[in-house]
Amino acid sequence: MEKIVSLAKRRGFVFPGSEIYGGLGSTYDYGPLGVELKNNIKREWWNYFIHQRNDMVGLDGGILLSPKVWEASGHVKNFKDALVECKKCHHRFRPDKLRRPEEVGAPTNASRLKDPSKCPDCGGEFTEAKLFSGMFKTVIGPIEKEGVTTYLRPETAQAIFADYKNILSSGSRKIPFGVGQIGKAFRNEVTTGNFIFRTLEFEQMEIEYFISPDDDWQKIFKGWVDYIHGFMDVVGLERKRLFDHEIPDAERAFYSKRTIDMEYEFPFGQDELWAVAYRTDYDLSKHQEYSGVNMEYLDDRTGKKYIPHVIEPTFGVDRTILAILSTAYSEEGDRTVLKLKPNIAPYKAAVFPLLANKPDLVNLAKKIYGDLKKSFYVAWDDRGNIGKRYYSQDEIGTPYCITVDFDSLESDDVTVRDRDTMKQKRVAIKELAPYLEEYCSRS
Ligand code: GAP
Repeated sequence: MEKIVSLAKRRGFVFPGSEIYGGLGSTYDYGPLGVELKNNIKREWWNYFIHQRNDMVGLDGGILLSPKVWEASGHVKNFKDALVECKKCHHRFRPDKLRRPEEVGAPTNASRLKDPSKCPDCGGEFTEAKLFSGMFKTVIGPIEKEGVTTYLRPETAQAIFADYKNILSSGSRKIPFGVGQIGKAFRNEVTTGNFIFRTLEFEQMEIEYFISPDDDWQKIFKGWVDYIHGFMDVVGLERKRLFDHEIPDAERAFYSKRTIDMEYEFPFGQDELWAVAYRTDYDLSKHQEYSGVNMEYLDDRTGKKYIPHVIEPTFGVDRTILAILSTAYSEEGDRTVLKLKPNIAPYKAAVFPLLANKPDLVNLAKKIYGDLKKSFYVAWDDRGNIGKRYYSQDEIGTPYCITVDFDSLESDDVTVRDRDTMKQKRVAIKELAPYLEEYCSRS
């Protein structure tokens, strides 16, 4: 984990938030390469879950919603974490993370605990559990006392429920269909840590999939679990490191009748990466009750009216990035390589002139760089020697390095070096764009 955190900062993937002021705990900024990686992951998610399916559409809802949304959804009342505090060192823990593995039904970080009734850090006694709200309050209006208090959304899902009628009528959708959304969410987390695994501000990619109460929800749920497993291949995660953890009744979120947490082997242990929940008609029924707006759907084949039920696949962008970085990170002899899948790598290629002081080489390399840049995000490097440039690109996951040498001036081809095999081959300059297209666009 230390190596990943250090590489992430050094090479511009992830910076600690507000560092010049001493930092703001559990907040991070994505640097020049981090934002590219993040955008590539989000683009692949949107493509796989929205564009490639016939039953999905997208939405970009607001971060600020009426406070009534959060009363109706139950978040104001129920979105709370129970915490125990060590009487000696005052570290706080979620009681569910302190249980032994056999008690929660799956291996978790808790497997390292010898006695879950004692503080794992100092062996001290715990206080009784207390409830803490995870909602970030904010005030709309210039005068705090007169303003309307609302919340920064703790999940993106609710805008989909609030807009469900508009989505239905604007696109003449028929159930089953789903709505996907990517956006920021905010949680006043009391236990934080493990780098970008649990932060106060993070990004979610969520789907609310609307079905009929008469549908076989278990079958549709299973279909989503399998489809999500397919996304691991798209972004280069390892299926053998994923564990589908069935959440027992007592530990599920207040709105869910079935939840599977998809846990991944992170460097610090196995923990939740993504999740799928069966939210029933809980949310739409509550919004109907609180807003007075009829949320029923008329099935024109059967003439039956009903409030749709919902299956919800949910993904944290930041946790996906952490899982990808920790899967891709490798050390081979004296080189560090990020073996990112080319479709999500920040740069698809780097272009070098063999020697920076030979204008003919530099001019041709600049021309290739400029031409490729029209279709791909590519890097330029003319510092130091070729070996150093290769290693520098390996460390940030650039799949291909293109070197313009003296032969290139005669034969219109260049050396293309592969990050993973380190093998080199000659490729005609006019074939470079199709070459990158073939190897970097494929998911
Ligand atoms: N709408 C359902 C929902 O929000 P969740 O399991 O609480 O469910 C969904 O959150 C996903 O969001 C998680 O699987 C995780 O990937 C991500 N996530 C949740 N809290 C987070 C946090 N504090 N920091 C980073 N990611 C978080």
